[in-house]
Amino acid sequence: MKSKFLFLAVVALMVLSLGLVACGGGGTSSGNGEPVAQAPEPTAAPVGDPEAGKAQFDTVCIACHGPGGVGVEGLGKPFTTSEFLLTVDDQELLEFIKTGRPISHPDNTTGVDMPPKGGNPALTDEQLLDIIAYIRTLHE
Ligand code: HEC
Repeated sequence: MKSKFLFLAVVALMVLSLGLVACGGGGTSSGNGEPVAQAPEPTAAPVGDPEAGKAQFDTVCIACHGPGGVGVEGLGKPFTTSEFLLTVDDQELLEFIKTGRPISHPDNTTGVDMPPKGGNPALTDEQLLDIIAYIRTLHE
């Protein structure tokens, strides 16, 4: 009885260790051999749709920045000649528009508020990126 138990225990141990070797060895070699799935290249910042952006611009921003972004004297600055637009990327411009540039801001040149999101808090990032794509087309 006792020896039969011992025999079973030894067999069980052998099976176990064989299993471990098989798993360990097999696992490592197949792990190295299998092609690793490549993550897709990170794409550049999402590009907005300038046509959808124009529609938004013409309802929100046009009041101060004028049709086609020519600017309105005493209100918004022109985009057609803006140095600022040339120096910021889309992400920075998105942050700028979401923040605005109050009169108290040291960069404010007009003494007029640029309100956050042009005063329309309902605008989403996606819509703002569309607007950004549109105003990028306005620079002369
Ligand atoms: C209530 C008027 C008003 C509205 C509406 C408005 N802006 Fe402005 N915006 C301004 C003013 C004023 C400035 C200039 C602030 C300053 O003196 O620097 C400005 C500046 C900017 C500038 C920086 C230009 C530069 O050359 O420095 C950007 C970009 C801009 N606005 C985008 C927008 C967008 C996009 C919208 C619509 C979502 C919008 N604005 C709506 C008043 C407005």
